[in-house]
This record gives sequence, structure tokens and C-alpha cells, in this order.
Amino acid sequence: METFSLFLVSPLMQDPQRIPAHDPVEALNAEYAQRSPREILAHALSQPGDIAISFSGAEDVVLIDMAARLKKPFRVFSLDTGRLHPETYQFLEKVRQQYGITIEICFPKPEAVEAMVNAKGLFSFYQDDHKECCGIRKVQPLRAKLATLDGWITGQRRDQSPGTRDAIPVIQADPGFSGPGKSLIKYNPLANWTSAEVWSYIRMMEIPYNPLHERGFISIGCEPCTRPVLPNQHEREGRWWWEEATHKECGLHAGNLEKE
Ligand code: ADX
Ligand code: SF4
Repeated sequence: METFSLFLVSPLMQDPQRIPAHDPVEALNAEYAQRSPREILAHALSQPGDIAISFSGAEDVVLIDMAARLKKPFRVFSLDTGRLHPETYQFLEKVRQQYGITIEICFPKPEAVEAMVNAKGLFSFYQDDHKECCGIRKVQPLRAKLATLDGWITGQRRDQSPGTRDAIPVIQADPGFSGPGKSLIKYNPLANWTSAEVWSYIRMMEIPYNPLHERGFISIGCEPCTRPVLPNQHEREGRWWWEEATHKECGLHAGNLEKE
């Protein structure tokens, strides 16, 4: 009898901690980790459910060009903070027309913006830091948009921010923005590409780009919080330059900071 029970209770059953966990998103990320941006994008666009490209009006235009060439239906949204450069607004319109797409524009809640600027003025982020303003103008509208989606596709790359993006996976779960009973998937097809590769693609394919890139801007966000960088300065130094480098995330990609 004693021998029989020993056979039935395997070491794994005695210690469930030892059963290797299988995370399907991590497995998918491992499968696609070395694939090309085009392959990762093709995978994302062939998933069931509602998925959209999150387009900032900068170099991430390559995602729109690649998606158009894949000849699969795709959706695009942009967060209009109300503080983008005129050049970025013009570029968003150029892309909309050239690719014949709808860019779903997401606006912040007017009452939240009004309350903030009436209380603190239009440039409070230089005193307070950027979190409150980014929270109202970017993160809340993003959260509202993502509540309607099953997945989103970003232009994040590892080389964009050594402090916060050096380990981003190509495919990841995004629990921070998942709603109740729904797990949102985030695709970063350009994660492995360098800035040089992005620009080779832009030039080779002769695709439109934001004219601010011709004036020393590399990373482009809102007008008051972005400035050109000098030769050999890292692109992230042109964003929120009055703040510490390790905190240069606006909350759209909050998971990047949580891992620190
Ligand atoms: S940020 O978090 O610092 O503002 P960054 O400018 O590097 O982000 O852009 C990385 C990616 O975040 C973009 O490729 C895009 O997918 C998304 N993103 C950033 N800003 C916007 C925006 N205004 N609208 C839509 N997506 C955006
Ligand atoms: Fe506000 Fe600057 Fe953030 Fe834009 S980048 S939302 S202006 S703090």
C-alpha cells in the first residue's frame, strides 16, 4: 500500500511551484523575438479582435507604410494633446491623405485640461514635472482608447531610451491598460531596430517624414517639451530636458518604468 501511494504522488504534485508556468504571450514573444518588424506587424494585424497602430506623427510612420504594403486592413490612432507642433499636425494630415487612411484622433477631456490650466497656467510642467499634464493630455485619452481595443502596436525601440526601453519585448501583455476581464496585448515591431535602420527604411521607401527631423529633432513629442539635440546627444535628451533621464516616460509606456 505504501509503495502504491508513492507512485501516485509525483514530486511535481507535491510542489506545484515546480510546475513550469506557460505564459502564451511570453512564448509568442520568444518565437518572434528575432523576426523582422514586418513579420511582427503581419502577425499583429492577423490577430482576431480590434488592434490599432498608435501613431505619434514621427518616425513611427514606418509602421503605417509597412502595414499599407502588407495589404491587410489596419487601424491607426493618434493622441492629440493640443500641444503638438504645427509641423506634426501637418504631417498627420499628409499621412492621412497619402495612405488614404482614417487617423482616429483622441482628444483629452476638456474639463480636465481646463481645470489644470486655469489653476496652474499653460506651462505648469516646467515647475511640477510633466506627470500631471501628460496624465490628462495623453494617458487618460490613451486609456479610454485602449479600453475599446484588444491590442495596440507602437513604434517603441530599445535604442530610444537606454534607461527605460533597453529591454522592451516585441510582444508583451499590457496589464496596466487592460480592462476587467480583458488582457490587452502590446506589439513593438520596431523594438530591435536602430534609429539608423528606421531612417534607411524611410529613405529607401521614400516615405514622408515629419519636417522637424530636418531641424535637429529626433524624438518628437509635444512642442513645449521637445527640443532639437546637438550632434552626439542622445535623442531622449531632447524630451523633458529639465527632468532626470531615468524618468523620461510620459505614462503611455508606464510598464517600462515599473521594471526598474
Ligand atoms: S513617449 O511616451 O515618449 O511620448 P515616444 O515619443 O518615444 O513616446 O513614442 C513611442 C511610441 O509611443 C510611438 O511610436 C507611438 O506608438 C506611441 N506614441 C507616442 N506619442 C503618441 C501620440 N501622441 N499618439 C499616439 N501614439 C503615440
Ligand atoms: Fe503636457 Fe508636455 Fe506631456 Fe505634452 S509632453 S502632455 S505638453 S507635459
